Amino acid sequence: MNRVVEDRTVPPHTVIAIDGPAGSGKSTTARALAERFDLLYVDSGAMYRALTWAALDRGQSFADEAGLLAMFTAADLQLDPARRETRVFWDGKDISDQVRTPAIEANVSAVAAHPAIRAAMVERQRSFARRRGVVMEGRDIGSVVFPLASAKIYLDASLAARAERRLNQHRRRGNETEFETVLAEVEARDNRDSSRAESPLSIPPDAVVIDNSRLSLDEQLERTAEAVITVLDEQRPRSLTAASLSSRVTIRYKFAYAVFGPLSRILGLTIHGREHVEFDEGKILAANHVSNLDPPMLAASLEGMGHFRAVAKEELFRFWPSRMIFKLLHSIPIKRSIFDADAFDTAAEYLAEGQNVVFFPEGMRRVVGEPGPVRNGLGQLMMRTEAPAVPVFFRGTTVAVPGSSPNTPLEVTFAPPVRLRALAALRNRLDDRGISRLIAQLFDQIYLELQARSFARTPMTTEERESADRARPKVLRKEAKTFRREKS
Ligand code: CDP
Repeated sequence: MNRVVEDRTVPPHTVIAIDGPAGSGKSTTARALAERFDLLYVDSGAMYRALTWAALDRGQSFADEAGLLAMFTAADLQLDPARRETRVFWDGKDISDQVRTPAIEANVSAVAAHPAIRAAMVERQRSFARRRGVVMEGRDIGSVVFPLASAKIYLDASLAARAERRLNQHRRRGNETEFETVLAEVEARDNRDSSRAESPLSIPPDAVVIDNSRLSLDEQLERTAEAVITVLDEQRPRSLTAASLSSRVTIRYKFAYAVFGPLSRILGLTIHGREHVEFDEGKILAANHVSNLDPPMLAASLEGMGHFRAVAKEELFRFWPSRMIFKLLHSIPIKRSIFDADAFDTAAEYLAEGQNVVFFPEGMRRVVGEPGPVRNGLGQLMMRTEAPAVPVFFRGTTVAVPGSSPNTPLEVTFAPPVRLRALAALRNRLDDRGISRLIAQLFDQIYLELQARSFARTPMTTEERESADRARPKVLRKEAKTFRREKS
């Protein structure tokens, strides 16, 4: 390994996601990385293969989702990341060789397409990372299983190179087959995996894409390890000095912080992950939205971070007193029923100057406990500016009146910034709208993950449930009215 990687260790709870199509070298790479960085190696594909084997073995129909799920939940499935290949045990029986035959490869995508099967697999896959750091390989690891993985890699190679590798693997195992047959199989599986409705194979927008068609194994391993270290270094919180933070704050913002800071303390706001916003670069603060209290609480938690401009619905600029507050802080009015180019231009200019922009990518207030759907605007802004977007998650703002919500925590959580590392590769495959959708889907998953982490600390409270039930009908009506022209 070269100098960037030599002697480097990673924190024990590091999660590395490796995705890519069949034969792209995920297994070899993931295993080598796990060994190199002393992490657990998990081959998620082996789990889908094992269930496919069990279904074939017992004559269970691949179309019967409930039947497959029952089989999976009842079974004792064990993976042993042995030296050369993951050993797979189903109820104690070693099926490692059986899961790697052409018969399994021809049917595994059908099994993996069922939403309930995927949900159960994902749950199990996440449980591995609760104990220690992992390198996990698969199709949806960076996009769904670990949307906040410490580092994401997408491995790719030409179809011919991948078919050649798979042919050699089959021959080594004594499965005689022809190049054309394997090529057709790999291509068909690519198509099925990429076109299924549920968690299709796609490039996570924040993954480092490595095409290894022309790389030797050593070169590929070196490039991947290097990419992981670079990403971990880039994502590591870099605290700014107090002087560099406060020197740029104008009197208006000092005033806002002087009002919102104490207010947040009276209400008992807890701030998690504040270190993830403390970097000196124009950034988008992409926040979920449940209440009118979200913007002031965000302002309070950005105290000392210089300036930010919030992109806010134009209706808020019509009447006093919101008009005064939004104008005071140079917020950017946006029309929500159309694509508002002016608002995006202003936000982009501001980001280019190295300032912060607050954006509510769901486009309106949503129901507590049900974040999303994220709309296309966030992706458009990120693609255009290539600014990093820090996910921000609010909880408790709907019930935060002093004394009214003793059980619901009032919190804001910042996650590490999302950077569009895969943009060039994505542009070769998708139009801008498609890329925006992928970014939106990633943020949907991130909000769910941040919510799950918060609910793990304090389960959803009765007040939150009641507030969700009250808000739901109104939110749905408003959504239909505000976004009826957006087809996404
Ligand atoms: O080694 P190869 O990439 O050919 O296959 P694998 O990683 O063992 O995955 C086998 C199949 O399981 C894939 O073709 C997918 O249909 C499915 N799979 C999935 O849907 N999601 C994952 N995270 C991993 C595998």
